[in-house]
Amino acid sequence: MVTAGMRRYRNRTQLQATLIGPRGSDLLDLDTLFPDAAPKARVRLELGFGHGEFISALAKAHPEDRLIGVEQDDLRVTKTAHRCIKDGVANVRLFAGEAHGFVRFRLRPASIHRIYVLFPDPWPKLGHRRRRLLTRSVLLDLSHAAAPGCRLVMASDTHEYVFQCLSNLSTLGGLWRNLYQPAGYRIDIPTRFPTLFERHKKAEGCRIAYLSMERTDAPPPPRAPWPVRPGPQPAGQRTL
Ligand SMILES: C[S@@+](CC[C@H](N)C(=O)[O-])C[C@H]1O[C@@H](n2cnc3c(N)ncnc32)[C@H](O)[C@@H]1O
Repeated sequence: MVTAGMRRYRNRTQLQATLIGPRGSDLLDLDTLFPDAAPKARVRLELGFGHGEFISALAKAHPEDRLIGVEQDDLRVTKTAHRCIKDGVANVRLFAGEAHGFVRFRLRPASIHRIYVLFPDPWPKLGHRRRRLLTRSVLLDLSHAAAPGCRLVMASDTHEYVFQCLSNLSTLGGLWRNLYQPAGYRIDIPTRFPTLFERHKKAEGCRIAYLSMERTDAPPPPRAPWPVRPGPQPAGQRTL
């Protein structure tokens, strides 16, 4: 069902379109994408930004940084562009598409300084877990994109997913340092810009687990082969 609220975001205004990055699978040129930013400005990446409260608030708090968001739901992309404009934020570029392909094909090596994956879809049923975003292969691709010192922040109310992510990271020997020692994660810490899911889950009484990792300067091993290289597809069916 298409609600009145959804209809509002069906048509992008020209202003919203200025915050939405081009589709495709080409490597991003950050200088072209953010012509007003200093060439060495920090780059923050959010995967699965949902309704965009976090990326918009973060961009507002760090106007000197460049923010890149990836979200597979087109309506949420337009809605987030609308929110950024309302918040007076211009240092954001939003991309509609699937996050793994984006990380693999569109990000240059060692170009990202902060990565946020907040409340990724938990796919709690055993048979569905292979659909989770934070596989070893995605984490390895993120390790290529991350500059030394890059922070990776993950949060979820599905603690088992957080442990799975930690376990996948532990197979990337020496690439990431855990900043939440000795346990390796923290529960219910205060957050600067709570996301929609975070607020909902806390209101339901869920306990939230957080990870914070730092990229070392160790060179990453080769990437896993890509099963399907995203090629040209008919308009409307593109995933990137
Ligand atoms: C549970 S919501 C959380 C949204 C937001 N981060 C929050 O905390 O409120 C997960 C979001 O990730 C998006 N998503 C899931 N898998 C994705 C993928 N592979 N690529 C891009 N976005 C994805 C979904 O469309 C959804 O908006």
